[in-house]
Amino acid sequence: MSDASSLRLPAWTEVSSKRREHIGRVVALLQHWAGALLLDEREARAWHDAGAWHDALRDADERTLRETTGNEERPLGMLHGPAAAIKLEQDGEPRRDVLEAIRWHTVGSANWGRTGRALYMADFLEPGRQFMQADRAFLAAQVPAAFDAVFRQVVRMRVEWVVREGKGLAMETVTLWNSVR
Ligand SMILES: [Fe+2]
Repeated sequence: MSDASSLRLPAWTEVSSKRREHIGRVVALLQHWAGALLLDEREARAWHDAGAWHDALRDADERTLRETTGNEERPLGMLHGPAAAIKLEQDGEPRRDVLEAIRWHTVGSANWGRTGRALYMADFLEPGRQFMQADRAFLAAQVPAAFDAVFRQVVRMRVEWVVREGKGLAMETVTLWNSVR
């Protein structure tokens, strides 16, 4: 069982202590699912590392995120995933599933295999978030038996939230929803 203090985070990580706790809960949930699904060591490690590193630049400043990604257009909140994936690649991380999970974890991707889908669900379903706690705990418990159905429901809930908040949907999110609905 990981906790926030035992996580191996990249040297360039910029996260608050609250964020570190969130990361620890995401990793713990991914490890729980990996055990329940009897994943082999390679895939369990991929899930773990995707969870551990996905928010490594979540608290980095706008200049760092825009310079790292070369992206001046996207909303700032969408850049920490791509920025972390770029830095990990520069550090020599070779696993495509880990990199793509992290790169797209905020907006989603229709091209994901299980690693990206698991991270996307864990990020949303981890128990520390204060909204819809009973519904999210129920969904988290269903993941081992109904991985695809829960993923679809999480995509739906995240799309609904974005629309309700009046925010724009990323094209990747629209494509993902159309691929699972
Ligand atoms: Fe996260």
